Amino acid sequence: MTDSFDRQIDYVRIGVTDRCNLRCFYCMPAEGIVYEPKKDLLSYEEITRLLWVLGDLGFKKVRFTGGEPFLRKDFIRLLEHTAEIDAYESIHITSNGTLLQKHIQKLKELGITKINLSIDSLDAERFHKITRRDDFEKVMQTFHMLVDTGFKIKLNAVIMKGINTQDIIPLAELAKDYPVDVRFIEEMPFNGGYKENVEMYSAKDIYADLKAHYSDMEKLPGKHGDTASLLSVPGYKGKIGVIAAFSRTFCNTCNRLRISAKGEIKSCLYDDGVFNIRDYMRSGVSDGELASKFKEIIRLKPKDGFEAEKLRKVPEAAMQSMSSIGG
Ligand code: 5AD
Ligand code: SF4
Repeated sequence: MTDSFDRQIDYVRIGVTDRCNLRCFYCMPAEGIVYEPKKDLLSYEEITRLLWVLGDLGFKKVRFTGGEPFLRKDFIRLLEHTAEIDAYESIHITSNGTLLQKHIQKLKELGITKINLSIDSLDAERFHKITRRDDFEKVMQTFHMLVDTGFKIKLNAVIMKGINTQDIIPLAELAKDYPVDVRFIEEMPFNGGYKENVEMYSAKDIYADLKAHYSDMEKLPGKHGDTASLLSVPGYKGKIGVIAAFSRTFCNTCNRLRISAKGEIKSCLYDDGVFNIRDYMRSGVSDGELASKFKEIIRLKPKDGFEAEKLRKVPEAAMQSMSSIGG
């Protein structure tokens, strides 16, 4: 499927739950967000149906996100089903790493080895300050177990001025000893209304910090669909990435569609939901009608995140939480 800007759209990100056991302050307020009633979330049957329809439309990659996806009771069953759909060449998960240890073997059996873990600091106190929970040791332990078991791990760190800029180099150093991509993400204003103004530490600032420390680092050529600008440091096992999530410099190669846990489709992270596919499915439509709807949505995908923002029905992006958007 190509959109009207000739971008091939073949990657779907599905939020399987809006619930989370952490309270990362760039994502939600301390008291959490108001969760949707379970009946309003897409059911197992609805998600698998969407996956089959999208697979037939040429989608090749799926990522399950949340909230924290491992909080969903039937998540493993969902992964088992997805692994049976030939269309998907790769199945990915974004997780906070607090609940997945006991599933490592199962994931390996299913061939699901591509996991993005969120770790914003290597200092237990700062980790606590950011996530408002005490799970640093557990997450680090999970990270090591996954790496030792041969998983392909990407680490996501949201970098915030005055909070964790001092973690940039220590986190980047993980790429020296481990074959992991360490990616630094610009903060986006999706925090459930916790704070209105985000004081930016931009991709440029992050890049400058990296350059000052790694004078011999090199920029790697980008691939279609990459949001991270990747850098390599000679002799390092992994790569270092910078994701200009707020500056939005990668939209021209965007290949993705998002579906939130309650079935809201976002053809761009910065739109506020272009269509509710849950309600459409519950109205009794056929698979053919579903496929046509996806084609229409893909055709209307905005040029970039700035266009999408202009088209919003509600201007205040900060009122949304990444946990309900689907990371
Ligand atoms: N800005 C940037 N990244 C965010 N994430 C969550 N909220 C934000 C935000 N406001 C990231 C998390 C996680 C991924 C799914 O999204 O760090 O790694
Ligand atoms: Fe949970 Fe991820 Fe949001 Fe943190 S960023 S509160 S781990 S959904």
